[in-house]
Amino acid sequence: MIVLQLWLILLLYLYTYQTITYYPTDFLHTLSSGVFSEIFDGEVYKYYVDGEWKKSSSGKSVAIINPTTRKTQYKVQACTQEEVNKVMEMAKEAQKLWARTPLWKRAELLHKAAAILKEHKAPIGECLVKEIAKPAKDAVTEVVRSGDLISYCAEEGVRILGEGKLLVSDSFPGNERTKYCLTSKIPLGVVLAIPPFNYPVNLAVSKIGPALIAGNSLVLKPPTQGAVACLHMVHCFHLAGFPKGLISCITGKGSEIGDFLTMHPGVNCISFTGGDTGVAISKKASMIPLQMELGGKDACIVLEDADLDLVAANIIKGGFSYSGQRCTAVKVVLVMESVADELVAKVNAKVAKLTVGPPEENSDITPVVSESSANFIEGLIMDAKEKGATFCQEYKREGNLIWPLFLDHVRPDMRIAWEEPFGPVLPVIRINSIEEGIHHCNASNFGLQGCVFTKDINKAILISDAMETGTVQINSAPARGPDHFPFQGIKDSGIGSQGITNSINMMTKIKSTVINLPTPSYSMG
Ligand SMILES: *[C@@H]1O[C@H](CO)[C@@H](O)[C@H](O)[C@H]1NC(C)=O
Repeated sequence: MIVLQLWLILLLYLYTYQTITYYPTDFLHTLSSGVFSEIFDGEVYKYYVDGEWKKSSSGKSVAIINPTTRKTQYKVQACTQEEVNKVMEMAKEAQKLWARTPLWKRAELLHKAAAILKEHKAPIGECLVKEIAKPAKDAVTEVVRSGDLISYCAEEGVRILGEGKLLVSDSFPGNERTKYCLTSKIPLGVVLAIPPFNYPVNLAVSKIGPALIAGNSLVLKPPTQGAVACLHMVHCFHLAGFPKGLISCITGKGSEIGDFLTMHPGVNCISFTGGDTGVAISKKASMIPLQMELGGKDACIVLEDADLDLVAANIIKGGFSYSGQRCTAVKVVLVMESVADELVAKVNAKVAKLTVGPPEENSDITPVVSESSANFIEGLIMDAKEKGATFCQEYKREGNLIWPLFLDHVRPDMRIAWEEPFGPVLPVIRINSIEEGIHHCNASNFGLQGCVFTKDINKAILISDAMETGTVQINSAPARGPDHFPFQGIKDSGIGSQGITNSINMMTKIKSTVINLPTPSYSMG
């Protein structure tokens, strides 16, 4: 009887707190595991500097709105510019020792962080569900994939950073064999990592892993939505025992610390994934290496001989996974007129089977990240409607939830033919020649990925050569992974190339040491 009463009191207590202060729903996890309690003061998540979890002196916080409930889910610190300065100072200091830490030790710590991250896949996955409405199953997959990525960075780093080159001078005309040049790779210093909301954990570690193994220190500025998942992820690095100051995570308003961070003289490299902000950053940043992955308008070119069931399955997966909020989502289908009716029918049959609802239920289509995103998507849809696109489904929206929509007979004068909706709406443009498809693809300001479906490998290769994109997939939807593949966009889609190996190389520079010998005398014999 007493036990029952205690339970009732506890339930009432929890209920009161949940409704009044919007305690994060993973608070129970936090309490029961005890592991995450140091990063959360009961109301606002702390930020991470100099190996410690701290509250900002601003006394202010930034609210994170749950896309599904449209209510405040979490709060994070609104850090100040002085706090950015402190983070930079610590990062610079910590990097000096880290650069001299043996490579195998750096790798060992990364492996440890990877294992701890995987152990915490459930609570971190839950943050992704609440912050960015990622379907629960995919949220956990993102965390596991991130652990694998960190381990791969450790292994690849040991392989490629452990070797250098020896050059001798007499291969260049006019030189004797008197100079030996030794080259090795050295770290850049402080790397600033800015991941986007859609893969906040995975795209953070795709920058953190390469930076740390290469001997850099790292400052993470997480996206507002996704910040709590990032803080939990950084906590795993904290638990792994990395040196103080080597990794920091600073949260806050973009208007207060955004430019201040990207233009900070203490930053030696910026790795950014996101939208238009990247263009602004690349114009304002000082003379430092930049790695940018921005938007995409990935085209799917479908030839007459394509396996249409395969195409339809890839259009669903490529166009509607995570409600189309992926840089490498299929964003326009360019199909030969002669097979268009059949393909559209096959895709429509599959769209009808997509489940629409909250991320907790693993729905295929979940609310898009914010109300402004939903409004932007709706704007593109209305423009297509006015200009006469065929709606294969009825347009339906509730709050941030937009039902999947396939738009047929889209023409180049419609905004959706060129702009990136980042939502569950996909336009189809019917083409009469392969050239027309390539022309549309190349006329885009973006050049991230593209895909072509055909059974004729010769045609596929020719089309791949003609498409002005960083990657072309033959007979599959565009995708960033596996994470060790090179990943790059041309034109407005980015600067540099990512993927684990390329990122490690990008976050180092070459250092040469030349040994000069006396001029040989040929009169020795
Ligand atoms: C891309 O398409 C345009 C227009 O069709 C063409 O002029 C250009 O040569 C193509 N690019 C490549 C690399 O073939």
